Amino acid sequence: MVKVTFIEENGTKREIDAVPGDPLMYAARDAGVEGIIAECGGSAMCATCHCYLLEAPNGPLPKPQPAEADTLEFMANEPRAVSRLTCQVTVTEALEGAVFQVATGR
Ligand code: FES
Repeated sequence: MVKVTFIEENGTKREIDAVPGDPLMYAARDAGVEGIIAECGGSAMCATCHCYLLEAPNGPLPKPQPAEADTLEFMANEPRAVSRLTCQVTVTEALEGAVFQVATGR
């Protein structure tokens, strides 16, 4: 398991366990992280799994692929340079200790 922290919209910090190889959204959704709705089920279509990557202690993540980047640009509320669709982030050991903030305003 890989420990990742999510900061919910109300400021609550939730450290969750994520399974390597799975989309990070699965772990957040299954742990009941507030604000991770994942309407499209992980198809990079809805942006309701949008988070901001605040800390990546083991180095930068691979950049978003075009489908993720397009959805962030056109569907996400308040996209930023650190925006990610958590359904498109694959859990690896490199995510240990990472901190994501759930994006607001859906
Ligand atoms: S679950 Fe829909 S874009 Fe991630």
